[in-house]
Amino acid sequence: MMEEHLFSAFPKDDDLFADCYTEERTYEFCGHVLKITQSFSTDLGVAGSVWDSALALCRYFAEQKISFRRRKVIELGAGTGIVGILAVLLGGDVTFTDLPRALKEIESNISVNVPSSCIHCSRVRALSWGHNHTWFPGDYDFVLGSDIVYLPEIYPLPVRTLRHLSAQSATVYLSSKMRREHRTISFYEEILPQHFQCRLLHRNEEQNINLYKATQQEHHAGRH
Ligand SMILES: C[S@@+](CC[C@H](N)C(=O)[O-])C[C@H]1O[C@@H](n2cnc3c(N)ncnc32)[C@H](O)[C@@H]1O
Repeated sequence: MMEEHLFSAFPKDDDLFADCYTEERTYEFCGHVLKITQSFSTDLGVAGSVWDSALALCRYFAEQKISFRRRKVIELGAGTGIVGILAVLLGGDVTFTDLPRALKEIESNISVNVPSSCIHCSRVRALSWGHNHTWFPGDYDFVLGSDIVYLPEIYPLPVRTLRHLSAQSATVYLSSKMRREHRTISFYEEILPQHFQCRLLHRNEEQNINLYKATQQEHHAGRH
């Protein structure tokens, strides 16, 4: 019953890739070498590849020496899992989430990159924004998301999920390609600020990628 409900809650997104092949790439952050397999297939769609926004967020964590040590972290729309994997290696207790079809790829990348000594610090769960976030606790210290702001018709849904998951003192890090066709700027300048204090941390002009930090506004601290 639970499973049925879960699957009906998950929308299909665009199938952008017609061919099916996989590719392993190596990335290095904070002295950790990450081997990430990407899958270009119609099944996985946009979840299958490492997006530039994910690399931008990893670079930011490295440059700013962000520590997730002993902190509760959740990643939304984790895709290949690269951001969450770095967060585990930087000490976090990380819950990776995405739509059901992406979870196997995340698990596989975790198994390659997270040493068995800290495998208990990672878990992979299905989470569809705005639908089943109440199955998760609302006390995460960090909420992470890279390139998850590209579906303007459902922008209120990830915001609802962010509000539920974030502890009062939580830090939300989001990185986004600022696509005009997806009105990404309106998410950060109009929708998210209705509930969060939102600050632009960094902009990569060449790649058109912005990094934001959001924190709960005290008078909007309710759960929805
Ligand atoms: C552009 S990809 C970004 C993947 C990864 N974060 C990265 O930056 O490499 C967007 C991700 O959001 C996930 N996603 C899309 N719609 C979703 C929804 N309604 N609920 C949860 N995840 C969703 C996709 O499955 C995909 O993994």
